[in-house]
Amino acid sequence: MYLLELAGEDDAFARCEARSAASAVSHLAPGLATARGISSRGVRGLAYTHRASELIGTTNGDIQSARLLLELAGIDRDGSVRVRASRVRNTEIDTQEVERELGSVLVERGFSVDLDGPDHELRAVFSDSAERRSAESSSGVRSEATRGGICALGWLAAESARDFGGRMPTKKPFFQPGSMDPLLARAIANIAGAAPGKTILDPMCGTGGLLVEAGLLGARVVGADTQPKMVHGARTNLTHYDLDFELFRGDATWIPIQNNSADAVVFDAPYGRQSKVEGDLATLIAGALDEARRIAPRAVIVADRSWAEVAEDAGWVVENRLEKRVHRSLTRHVLVLSTG
Ligand SMILES: C[S@@+](CC[C@H](N)C(=O)[O-])C[C@H]1O[C@@H](n2cnc3c(N)ncnc32)[C@H](O)[C@@H]1O
Repeated sequence: MYLLELAGEDDAFARCEARSAASAVSHLAPGLATARGISSRGVRGLAYTHRASELIGTTNGDIQSARLLLELAGIDRDGSVRVRASRVRNTEIDTQEVERELGSVLVERGFSVDLDGPDHELRAVFSDSAERRSAESSSGVRSEATRGGICALGWLAAESARDFGGRMPTKKPFFQPGSMDPLLARAIANIAGAAPGKTILDPMCGTGGLLVEAGLLGARVVGADTQPKMVHGARTNLTHYDLDFELFRGDATWIPIQNNSADAVVFDAPYGRQSKVEGDLATLIAGALDEARRIAPRAVIVADRSWAEVAEDAGWVVENRLEKRVHRSLTRHVLVLSTG
């Protein structure tokens, strides 16, 4: 069993992405999930999971409980260790004290400590418990009875590469307002199944934000946009990252490629004033979803509202619908579609 430390504020969204790299992903506590198995390579490419660790166990969210759990745990490894403690969400635990306490348990058990390059890293993660949150929010007061939370201990197994900052839209060679944040784009690419040997199509590619992330995951990427300057700009960006791509000027409702020629279609529907749409948006989305259904067995679409009914009318089965908060006034609706 593995412990997943999630990133961001939307756990359901993070769990949905994590399923591309882990099996049987389920909720454990705010910001934490468990999984039965993981792909280390897959975890390295996740946006909304920081780490996966081999779960030792869970206990109450206080230092003495964490200490007891570690004292009683079977440890099937040797070599040097370090302890890293983290707070997820609202706990008030002193992480330095946790590291000292758990470090001393490991020393008592015969391990040497190496803070710079240990053979093993013990993760001690503290989260608010869901029970405490709901109790607090319904009563409006924090009582002794609901104080607490959870501690999960595990041996670090894989970490995601946090290199997204360098790919923020303004840092790419071609930038336009409305370009997708690389974290969200990476998560959509993962949910779509982007990986070596797969082909991912974005028929409204804009600056290529989704295509860059899918390409970096090893997929071959294909994109189209009605605006020539976007096609040119996306080409500049995809070339910058040295990716395997094909781009053309085209309409998302009529893409000149064969039936079933991609593994998934992804798109970020036009919204707001800065996105150009010729004609009516609902007609465009319906046509694009129809065309996507012809080209691939899976689609992940992002928009400023849910297009679930329109997707069902186009013959898609809605596997999942999620909301991802971008900032205070912008929530993106994500639909995961399959042919059933
Ligand atoms: C929200 S933007 C996509 C942003 C993109 N994900 C990025 O990271 O830059 C939507 C794009 O859809 C394009 N578009 C609008 N109508 C279209 C159509 N009928 N066919 C193809 N692209 C279209 C717009 O030109 C715009 O670039």
